[in-house]
Amino acid sequence: MQLIDGHGRVATDLRVSLTDRCNLRCQYCMPAEGLDWLATDETLTDDELNRLIRIGVEMLGIRDVRFTGGEPLLRRSLPAIVAETKALPSQPRTAMTSNGLGLKHTAQALADAGLDRVNISLDTTDPATFEKITRRPRLHDVIDGLAAAHDAGLRPVKVNAVLLRGINDQEAPDLLRWCIKHEYELRIIEQMPLDAQHGWNREAMVTADETLALLREHVRLTPLDGRGSAPAEKFLVDDGPHTVGIIGSVTKPFCGDCNRVRLTADGQIMNCLFARTESDLRRPLRSGASDIEIAEQWMAAMTTKLPGHGIDDPSFLQLDRPMSAIGG
Ligand code: 5AD
Ligand code: SF4
Repeated sequence: MQLIDGHGRVATDLRVSLTDRCNLRCQYCMPAEGLDWLATDETLTDDELNRLIRIGVEMLGIRDVRFTGGEPLLRRSLPAIVAETKALPSQPRTAMTSNGLGLKHTAQALADAGLDRVNISLDTTDPATFEKITRRPRLHDVIDGLAAAHDAGLRPVKVNAVLLRGINDQEAPDLLRWCIKHEYELRIIEQMPLDAQHGWNREAMVTADETLALLREHVRLTPLDGRGSAPAEKFLVDDGPHTVGIIGSVTKPFCGDCNRVRLTADGQIMNCLFARTESDLRRPLRSGASDIEIAEQWMAAMTTKLPGHGIDDPSFLQLDRPMSAIGG
Protein backbone atom coordinates (compact mmCIF):
# COMPACT_ATOMS: atom_id res chain seq x y z
CA MET A 1 0.00 0.00 0.00
CA GLN A 2 1.18 3.50 -0.80
CA LEU A 3 0.02 7.05 -0.22
CA ILE A 4 -0.55 7.90 -3.86
CA ASP A 5 -2.56 10.88 -5.01
CA GLY A 6 -4.66 11.56 -8.10
CA HIS A 7 -1.67 13.07 -9.90
CA GLY A 8 0.64 10.11 -9.40
CA ARG A 9 2.73 11.58 -6.59
CA VAL A 10 3.66 9.24 -3.76
CA ALA A 11 4.00 10.58 -0.22
CA THR A 12 6.92 9.07 1.68
CA ASP A 13 7.69 12.02 3.96
CA LEU A 14 5.42 12.39 6.99
CA ARG A 15 5.41 15.64 8.99
CA VAL A 16 3.95 15.19 12.43
CA SER A 17 2.84 18.23 14.40
CA LEU A 18 3.25 17.42 18.10
CA THR A 19 1.56 20.54 19.44
CA ASP A 20 0.09 23.74 18.04
CA ARG A 21 1.63 25.77 20.88
CA CYS A 22 4.76 27.87 20.61
CA ASN A 23 6.92 29.97 22.89
CA LEU A 24 7.72 32.51 20.15
CA ARG A 25 5.31 34.73 18.24
CA CYS A 26 6.93 35.19 14.85
CA GLN A 27 5.18 37.93 12.91
CA TYR A 28 4.77 35.77 9.81
CA CYS A 29 3.14 33.00 11.83
CA MET A 30 1.17 34.18 14.88
CA PRO A 31 -0.46 37.26 16.36
CA ALA A 32 1.18 38.73 19.49
CA GLU A 33 -1.48 37.28 21.79
CA GLY A 34 -1.08 33.74 20.49
CA LEU A 35 -3.96 31.57 19.30
CA ASP A 36 -6.76 29.47 20.77
CA TRP A 37 -4.70 26.38 21.50
CA LEU A 38 -6.11 22.90 21.07
CA ALA A 39 -7.65 21.40 24.20
CA THR A 40 -5.81 18.49 25.76
CA ASP A 41 -8.47 15.98 24.81
CA GLU A 42 -8.37 17.15 21.19
CA THR A 43 -4.63 16.52 20.97
CA LEU A 44 -3.49 13.00 20.15
CA THR A 45 -1.91 11.11 23.03
CA ASP A 46 1.59 9.66 22.67
CA ASP A 47 0.11 6.20 22.11
CA GLU A 48 -2.20 7.50 19.40
CA LEU A 49 0.63 9.36 17.70
CA ASN A 50 2.96 6.39 17.86
CA ARG A 51 0.27 4.17 16.39
CA LEU A 52 -0.35 6.50 13.43
CA ILE A 53 3.39 6.85 12.78
CA ARG A 54 3.71 3.05 12.88
CA ILE A 55 0.83 2.63 10.42
CA GLY A 56 2.39 5.24 8.12
CA VAL A 57 5.82 3.61 8.21
CA GLU A 58 4.90 -0.08 8.30
CA MET A 59 1.87 -0.10 6.04
CA LEU A 60 1.99 3.00 3.86
CA GLY A 61 5.58 3.43 2.77
CA ILE A 62 6.62 6.41 4.88
CA ARG A 63 10.44 6.60 4.96
CA ASP A 64 11.02 10.01 6.54
CA VAL A 65 9.37 11.32 9.69
CA ARG A 66 9.76 14.98 10.63
CA PHE A 67 8.53 16.28 13.98
CA THR A 68 7.15 19.82 13.92
CA GLY A 69 4.73 22.04 15.82
CA GLY A 70 4.02 24.74 16.83
CA GLU A 71 7.17 24.09 18.76
CA PRO A 72 7.82 20.33 19.04
CA LEU A 73 10.17 20.72 22.02
CA LEU A 74 7.18 21.84 24.09
CA ARG A 75 6.05 18.23 24.00
CA ARG A 76 7.95 16.67 26.92
CA SER A 77 7.65 13.17 25.54
CA LEU A 78 9.41 14.06 22.29
CA PRO A 79 12.52 11.90 22.93
CA ALA A 80 10.30 8.91 23.68
CA ILE A 81 8.28 9.46 20.49
CA VAL A 82 11.49 9.72 18.46
CA ALA A 83 12.81 6.52 20.04
CA GLU A 84 9.57 4.66 19.29
CA THR A 85 9.70 5.85 15.67
CA LYS A 86 13.35 4.89 15.24
CA ALA A 87 12.66 1.46 16.73
CA LEU A 88 10.35 0.56 13.84
CA PRO A 89 11.96 -2.22 11.76
CA SER A 90 12.52 -0.06 8.68
CA GLN A 91 14.22 2.63 10.81
CA PRO A 92 12.79 5.72 9.11
CA ARG A 93 14.97 8.80 8.86
CA THR A 94 13.97 11.27 11.55
CA ALA A 95 14.19 15.05 11.65
CA MET A 96 12.78 17.94 13.62
CA THR A 97 11.82 21.50 12.71
CA SER A 98 12.15 23.63 15.84
CA ASN A 99 12.77 27.18 16.97
CA GLY A 100 15.63 25.87 19.10
CA LEU A 101 14.44 27.24 22.47
CA GLY A 102 15.41 24.68 25.10
CA LEU A 103 17.29 22.54 22.61
CA LYS A 104 20.41 23.19 24.65
CA HIS A 105 18.98 20.85 27.28
CA THR A 106 17.47 18.21 24.99
CA ALA A 107 19.73 17.91 21.94
CA GLN A 108 21.79 15.06 23.38
CA ALA A 109 18.71 13.12 24.56
CA LEU A 110 17.16 13.54 21.13
CA ALA A 111 20.30 12.35 19.38
CA ASP A 112 20.46 9.37 21.75
CA ALA A 113 16.81 8.61 20.96
CA GLY A 114 17.69 8.39 17.26
CA LEU A 115 16.94 11.83 15.90
CA ASP A 116 19.04 12.26 12.77
CA ARG A 117 18.86 15.97 12.05
CA VAL A 118 17.28 19.33 12.79
CA ASN A 119 16.10 22.45 11.02
CA ILE A 120 16.18 25.43 13.34
CA SER A 121 14.31 28.62 12.49
CA LEU A 122 16.52 31.70 12.75
CA ASP A 123 15.95 34.83 10.72
CA THR A 124 18.67 37.10 12.10
CA THR A 125 21.71 37.17 14.37
CA ASP A 126 20.87 40.64 15.67
CA PRO A 127 19.15 40.51 19.10
CA ALA A 128 16.93 43.55 18.42
CA THR A 129 15.79 42.27 15.03
CA PHE A 130 15.19 38.85 16.57
CA GLU A 131 12.94 40.36 19.20
CA LYS A 132 11.12 42.43 16.61
CA ILE A 133 10.34 39.37 14.48
CA THR A 134 9.62 36.82 17.22
CA ARG A 135 8.33 39.27 19.86
CA ARG A 136 10.55 37.55 22.45
CA PRO A 137 14.14 38.39 23.55
CA ARG A 138 15.42 34.85 23.11
CA LEU A 139 18.14 35.00 20.46
CA HIS A 140 20.77 33.59 22.83
CA ASP A 141 18.61 30.50 23.48
CA VAL A 142 18.44 29.74 19.79
CA ILE A 143 22.18 30.21 19.37
CA ASP A 144 22.83 27.87 22.33
CA GLY A 145 20.34 25.37 20.91
CA LEU A 146 22.07 25.33 17.54
CA ALA A 147 25.46 24.77 19.18
CA ALA A 148 24.05 21.94 21.28
CA ALA A 149 22.55 20.27 18.20
CA HIS A 150 25.91 20.44 16.48
CA ASP A 151 27.74 19.12 19.57
CA ALA A 152 25.27 16.25 19.84
CA GLY A 153 26.19 15.17 16.32
CA LEU A 154 22.91 15.96 14.64
CA ARG A 155 23.82 16.44 10.96
CA PRO A 156 23.30 18.47 9.00
CA VAL A 157 22.21 21.33 11.24
CA LYS A 158 20.06 23.46 8.97
CA VAL A 159 18.91 27.00 9.65
CA ASN A 160 15.58 28.10 8.14
CA ALA A 161 15.21 31.83 7.59
CA VAL A 162 12.33 33.91 6.30
CA LEU A 163 13.22 37.39 5.02
CA LEU A 164 10.88 40.27 5.78
CA ARG A 165 11.26 43.37 3.66
CA GLY A 166 12.76 46.25 5.59
CA ILE A 167 13.19 44.15 8.74
CA ASN A 168 15.89 41.51 8.18
CA ASP A 169 16.39 41.26 4.41
CA GLN A 170 19.55 43.36 4.45
CA GLU A 171 20.99 41.09 7.15
CA ALA A 172 20.84 38.00 4.96
CA PRO A 173 24.53 38.13 3.92
CA ASP A 174 25.57 38.39 7.61
CA LEU A 175 23.32 35.47 8.50
CA LEU A 176 24.90 33.42 5.72
CA ARG A 177 28.43 34.22 6.91
CA TRP A 178 27.46 33.39 10.49
CA CYS A 179 25.97 30.05 9.46
CA ILE A 180 29.03 29.13 7.42
CA LYS A 181 31.31 29.99 10.32
CA HIS A 182 29.35 27.66 12.59
CA GLU A 183 28.94 24.89 9.99
CA TYR A 184 25.18 25.33 9.72
CA GLU A 185 23.44 25.06 6.37
CA LEU A 186 21.32 28.15 5.70
CA ARG A 187 18.08 27.90 3.74
CA ILE A 188 16.09 31.02 2.98
CA ILE A 189 12.37 30.41 2.49
CA GLU A 190 9.95 32.75 0.71
CA GLN A 191 7.28 33.94 3.08
CA MET A 192 4.04 32.05 2.50
CA PRO A 193 0.49 33.10 3.37
CA LEU A 194 0.33 30.91 6.48
CA ASP A 195 0.01 33.52 9.22
CA ALA A 196 -3.06 33.42 11.44
CA GLN A 197 -3.60 37.14 10.98
CA HIS A 198 -3.79 36.90 7.17
CA GLY A 199 -1.25 39.71 6.89
CA TRP A 200 0.70 38.23 3.95
CA ASN A 201 0.85 40.18 0.74
CA ARG A 202 2.62 39.38 -2.48
CA GLU A 203 4.41 42.71 -2.78
CA ALA A 204 5.97 42.58 0.69
CA MET A 205 7.38 39.09 0.06
CA VAL A 206 11.11 38.95 -0.65
CA THR A 207 11.26 36.62 -3.64
CA ALA A 208 13.86 33.91 -4.22
CA ASP A 209 15.29 35.95 -7.11
CA GLU A 210 15.62 39.03 -4.92
CA THR A 211 17.32 36.96 -2.22
CA LEU A 212 19.80 35.62 -4.74
CA ALA A 213 20.57 39.10 -6.03
CA LEU A 214 21.01 40.35 -2.47
CA LEU A 215 23.44 37.57 -1.56
CA ARG A 216 25.32 37.91 -4.84
CA GLU A 217 26.37 41.41 -3.87
CA HIS A 218 28.51 39.75 -1.20
CA VAL A 219 29.35 36.19 -2.24
CA ARG A 220 29.74 34.11 -5.41
CA LEU A 221 26.89 31.63 -5.80
CA THR A 222 27.14 28.67 -8.17
CA PRO A 223 23.98 26.61 -8.71
CA LEU A 224 24.18 22.91 -7.87
CA ASP A 225 22.03 20.45 -9.81
CA GLY A 226 19.82 17.75 -8.45
CA ARG A 227 16.98 19.39 -6.58
CA GLY A 228 14.88 16.19 -6.82
CA SER A 229 11.90 16.42 -4.54
CA ALA A 230 13.84 18.75 -2.21
CA PRO A 231 12.38 22.23 -2.34
CA ALA A 232 15.65 24.12 -1.92
CA GLU A 233 17.70 25.21 -4.90
CA LYS A 234 21.22 24.84 -3.62
CA PHE A 235 24.18 27.04 -4.39
CA LEU A 236 27.87 26.69 -3.62
CA VAL A 237 29.08 29.72 -1.71
CA ASP A 238 32.39 31.16 -2.94
CA ASP A 239 33.17 27.84 -4.68
CA GLY A 240 32.34 25.72 -1.64
CA PRO A 241 32.38 23.59 0.28
CA HIS A 242 29.56 25.45 2.03
CA THR A 243 26.15 25.81 0.42
CA VAL A 244 23.04 27.92 0.76
CA GLY A 245 19.52 26.83 -0.17
CA ILE A 246 16.91 29.19 -1.56
CA ILE A 247 13.33 27.99 -1.33
CA GLY A 248 10.96 29.72 -3.73
CA SER A 249 7.85 28.23 -2.17
CA VAL A 250 5.66 30.83 -3.88
CA THR A 251 7.47 31.90 -7.05
CA LYS A 252 9.07 28.52 -7.85
CA PRO A 253 6.66 25.98 -6.41
CA PHE A 254 7.79 22.39 -6.14
CA CYS A 255 4.29 20.94 -5.88
CA GLY A 256 4.81 18.67 -8.90
CA ASP A 257 7.48 16.73 -7.00
CA CYS A 258 5.83 16.87 -3.59
CA ASN A 259 6.31 13.72 -1.51
CA ARG A 260 4.86 15.05 1.75
CA VAL A 261 1.85 14.43 3.91
CA ARG A 262 1.03 16.09 7.22
CA LEU A 263 -0.54 14.90 10.45
CA THR A 264 -1.80 17.66 12.73
CA ALA A 265 -1.60 17.46 16.52
CA ASP A 266 -5.36 16.83 16.62
CA GLY A 267 -5.16 13.86 14.27
CA GLN A 268 -6.11 15.36 10.93
CA ILE A 269 -4.38 14.35 7.72
CA MET A 270 -3.55 17.33 5.53
CA ASN A 271 -2.39 16.25 2.11
CA CYS A 272 -0.94 19.73 1.48
CA LEU A 273 0.07 22.78 3.57
CA PHE A 274 -2.68 24.57 1.68
CA ALA A 275 -5.30 21.80 1.66
CA ARG A 276 -8.84 23.05 2.10
CA THR A 277 -10.10 19.74 3.38
CA GLU A 278 -8.71 17.71 6.24
CA SER A 279 -9.33 14.05 6.94
CA ASP A 280 -9.97 13.08 10.51
CA LEU A 281 -8.07 10.05 11.77
CA ARG A 282 -8.71 10.81 15.44
CA ARG A 283 -12.30 9.65 15.32
CA PRO A 284 -11.51 6.22 13.84
CA LEU A 285 -8.54 5.96 16.24
CA ARG A 286 -10.82 6.56 19.20
CA SER A 287 -13.67 4.39 18.01
CA GLY A 288 -11.81 1.12 17.73
CA ALA A 289 -10.83 1.09 14.03
CA SER A 290 -8.28 -1.52 13.00
CA ASP A 291 -4.86 -0.62 11.55
CA ILE A 292 -6.09 -1.59 8.09
CA GLU A 293 -9.16 0.62 8.39
CA ILE A 294 -7.05 3.57 9.45
CA ALA A 295 -4.56 2.96 6.65
CA GLU A 296 -7.43 2.89 4.15
CA GLN A 297 -8.83 6.19 5.42
CA TRP A 298 -5.35 7.71 5.21
CA MET A 299 -4.97 6.55 1.61
CA ALA A 300 -8.39 7.97 0.78
CA ALA A 301 -7.28 11.30 2.25
CA MET A 302 -4.57 11.55 -0.42
CA THR A 303 -6.86 11.27 -3.43
CA THR A 304 -8.02 14.89 -3.14
CA LYS A 305 -4.48 16.33 -3.11
CA LEU A 306 -4.46 19.27 -5.50
CA PRO A 307 -1.79 19.56 -8.21
CA GLY A 308 -0.48 22.87 -6.81
CA HIS A 309 -1.04 25.59 -4.24
CA GLY A 310 -1.63 28.49 -6.66
CA ILE A 311 -0.41 31.12 -4.17
CA ASP A 312 0.89 33.31 -6.97
CA ASP A 313 -2.56 33.23 -8.59
CA PRO A 314 -4.73 36.29 -7.83
CA SER A 315 -7.65 34.03 -6.88
CA PHE A 316 -5.68 32.33 -4.08
CA LEU A 317 -7.60 32.12 -0.80
CA GLN A 318 -5.75 31.72 2.48
CA LEU A 319 -6.64 28.90 4.86
CA ASP A 320 -8.06 29.32 8.32
CA ARG A 321 -5.54 26.94 9.86
CA PRO A 322 -2.21 28.73 10.38
CA MET A 323 1.25 27.19 9.95
CA SER A 324 1.65 26.62 13.68
CA ALA A 325 -1.38 24.34 13.66
CA ILE A 326 -0.31 22.40 10.58
CA GLY A 327 3.41 21.87 11.00
CA GLY A 328 6.03 23.15 8.60
N1 5AD B 1 6.23 31.42 5.41
C1 5AD B 1 7.37 30.70 5.24
N2 5AD B 1 7.93 29.99 6.23
C2 5AD B 1 7.32 30.01 7.41
N3 5AD B 1 7.64 29.43 8.56
C3 5AD B 1 6.70 29.73 9.46
N4 5AD B 1 5.75 30.53 8.93
C4 5AD B 1 6.13 30.72 7.65
C5 5AD B 1 5.59 31.45 6.58
N5 5AD B 1 4.48 32.17 6.71
C6 5AD B 1 8.86 28.65 8.71
C7 5AD B 1 9.50 28.84 10.03
C8 5AD B 1 10.05 27.48 10.30
C9 5AD B 1 9.25 26.53 9.47
C10 5AD B 1 8.34 25.70 10.29
O1 5AD B 1 8.51 27.30 8.58
O2 5AD B 1 10.52 29.80 9.97
O3 5AD B 1 11.40 27.38 9.94
FE1 SF4 C 1 6.67 29.49 16.76
FE2 SF4 C 1 7.71 28.61 14.49
FE3 SF4 C 1 5.47 30.06 14.44
FE4 SF4 C 1 7.78 31.24 15.11
S1 SF4 C 1 7.26 30.30 13.10
S2 SF4 C 1 5.80 31.45 16.18
S3 SF4 C 1 8.82 29.61 16.17
S4 SF4 C 1 5.69 28.04 15.32
